Amino acid sequence: MTGFDAIIARDQRIEPRDRMPDAYRATMVRQIAQHAHSEIIGMQPEGRWITRAPSLRRKAILLAKVQDEAGHGLYLYAAAETLGADRADLTAKLISGAQKYSSIFNYPSLTFADVGVIGWLVDGAAICNQVPLCRTSYGPYARAMIRICKEESFHQRQGYELLMRMTRGTPEQREMVQEAVDRWWWPSLMMFGPPDAESPNTARSMAWKIKRHTNDELRQRFVDMSVPQADALGVRLPDPELRWNEERGHYDFGEVDWAEFRRVIGGEGPCNAERIAVRRSAHEEGAWVREAAEAHAAKRAGRAA
Ligand code: ACO
Repeated sequence: MTGFDAIIARDQRIEPRDRMPDAYRATMVRQIAQHAHSEIIGMQPEGRWITRAPSLRRKAILLAKVQDEAGHGLYLYAAAETLGADRADLTAKLISGAQKYSSIFNYPSLTFADVGVIGWLVDGAAICNQVPLCRTSYGPYARAMIRICKEESFHQRQGYELLMRMTRGTPEQREMVQEAVDRWWWPSLMMFGPPDAESPNTARSMAWKIKRHTNDELRQRFVDMSVPQADALGVRLPDPELRWNEERGHYDFGEVDWAEFRRVIGGEGPCNAERIAVRRSAHEEGAWVREAAEAHAAKRAGRAA
């Protein structure tokens, strides 16, 4: 065994100049681009609360968090570029709907409690999925994930801390938190992707060590992690079938509404059209910045020559 297969078998990293099967390259570009798009679109649901945060402290935290997400998107686009992808082309594919982004960001953030619940559940699910990606087989993606995971864990903790404050506040605040948990719980479970039996990419991505765990394994890990956290907060997870299974050593949980998941990734979620419209107009309004940067670079290159 030589080359690509040997590197994978030895659990080493594939680097940009290594030979790799075309399908491996295409899978990596697909996953990294989808991940980058998710970070960029993911700025929207929380970004709308920056101007309405209830205190200077909460505003500063939220601003830092949303900026981190922009940074994550940029590292990830840079990782995709090492595979030969073109950033402008990736952005065009996001805007045209040719490439996906995470289903979770197609739900609205209706109250300030959503900021806490997104941090706790959405970033919590993201960490569960992303910590194993620090050991993914493509070097630039694995290295980007190390820093991203450190920042995500700060995001998760700021969300949980906000919820701890709110659940110890007034009855109205506790109600707001519960109502937000009721809305975000099931979409958070969908973040891990379709059930293994219906996941077309998992088997091959596991063989190539792109994925280290299957969608269902990570979903179970997330449920097991979240139940005691919900208890500590004093909130109820909206699943009547959720109970500890002594034999399995895991929590049993109800069936995710996969028809809803398919609708959302098919473009029919509550906010898909709005998310893409906002991204498109930001891209169009930023055209002059890109043109100015290019003109400046050309001038400098001319001077150096
Ligand atoms: N939202 C949107 N699309 C999804 C989702 C989801 N939650 N889950 C799966 N899909 C898509 C897949 O991209 C794939 O689409 P495609 O083949 O048309 O490109 C299809 O549904 C089938 O799914 P799988 O075969 O399970 O796909 P895959 O092996 O890529 O697994 C997963 C999906 C787990 C999301 C994987 O791509 C991954 O780990 N990605 C990196 C993490 C990431 O993107 N996180 C983004 C959200 S977190 C955040 O940004 C804070």
